[in-house]
Amino acid sequence: MNRNIRLSENIYYVGVNDRRTHLFENLWPLEHGVSYNAYLIKDQKNVLIDTVEIAKTDHLIRELRAILGKEALHYLVVNHTEPDHSGALNALLKEWPELCVVGNKVTFRFLDGFYGTAPRKMAVEHGDILDTGKHRLRFYSTPMIHWPETMMSFEESGGILFSGDAFGSFKTLDGGIFDDEIDVRDYEDEMRRYYSNIVGKYGKNVQRAFNLLADLPVKMVASTHGPVFRKDPDWVLSRYARWSREETKAGVVLVYGSMYGHTEEMADFTARCLKAAGVPRVLVYDASKTHPSYILSSVWEYNGLVLASPAYNNELFPSVKNVIEKFIERKMAHRFVALMGISTWSGGGVKGLNQLVETLGWEIVGEPHEAKYAAGQEDLEKCRTLAEKLAERVLNC
Ligand code: FEO
Repeated sequence: MNRNIRLSENIYYVGVNDRRTHLFENLWPLEHGVSYNAYLIKDQKNVLIDTVEIAKTDHLIRELRAILGKEALHYLVVNHTEPDHSGALNALLKEWPELCVVGNKVTFRFLDGFYGTAPRKMAVEHGDILDTGKHRLRFYSTPMIHWPETMMSFEESGGILFSGDAFGSFKTLDGGIFDDEIDVRDYEDEMRRYYSNIVGKYGKNVQRAFNLLADLPVKMVASTHGPVFRKDPDWVLSRYARWSREETKAGVVLVYGSMYGHTEEMADFTARCLKAAGVPRVLVYDASKTHPSYILSSVWEYNGLVLASPAYNNELFPSVKNVIEKFIERKMAHRFVALMGISTWSGGGVKGLNQLVETLGWEIVGEPHEAKYAAGQEDLEKCRTLAEKLAERVLNC
């Protein structure tokens, strides 16, 4: 199958969609699937940039054969060794035994460990160039986006940045591959969920990469997941820049746990009070129902948070604790937080919230409130007061 998807006259998109895998990295739900993007430069020396997940190997090889015919595949550039992009390596070496694998020193440590040593390797360093005839690929070292070996390749004649996972997104490419063929807004939520959960911990490294690439005349951004941006690369670059700086908008995410609905009632009442107090965006999540990756993605976007938990065995409710631990793992920047919950035969929920939020160093707004058994009118008025104080902080920071 040759879909003949061209980024330029001799550069092809040869990636695949995956609608079958339920969990990316066996962790993150793929409600809308994911694409594994790979690219072929057809030239005097033919170069494949990244591969695909192992289950999609046949598809990749058929597509490459359709374009190359009997020609050799000379080089494979591995911008990122994670197996969703290097999984086809051994099959490619079987198909084209002369294939030379291009990467940096750390790349080969990983590839050798995963797949055994490739017979032909070319180690490159930051700034090195691979000349293929009519094209020149310059390599940029961008470690920890999000693995130690990650690098980017810049194709100089077309101004195409092959960026690895950076500037990528969950969600398959349904017919449209390029930003001018789709409504990019359909990808924004899944892009932020991808960024915040997979790359977000390494925001400083993303900023460092932005500095390195600052003077490059980038006309197209071709990452390993999601759309290729050729009409408006700044659309994706500006979002990644903002997310890497952890710039937030005024809004409140309310995350609650609730066994029998009492804490949920407090949460809903508080959400209404936040809206009445003028907070432009209020999002409410049941921590037991919504996967933490969606909650984390929303919290990445807004500056306010309400955490509400019942006591559970003298402690914080487990699903709420699980979500907060995701914030801690990613060392998320400052948020304004209001805390509330319900105790029954023991407390522990609000105390647990306090402890974890102190670990994060976030500002606790107002006096945390813990109702007993169920929220009465007096408790709800305290929730209203908390909501109003939080609204003031998020609207005036
Ligand atoms: Fe898409 Fe880090 O692999």
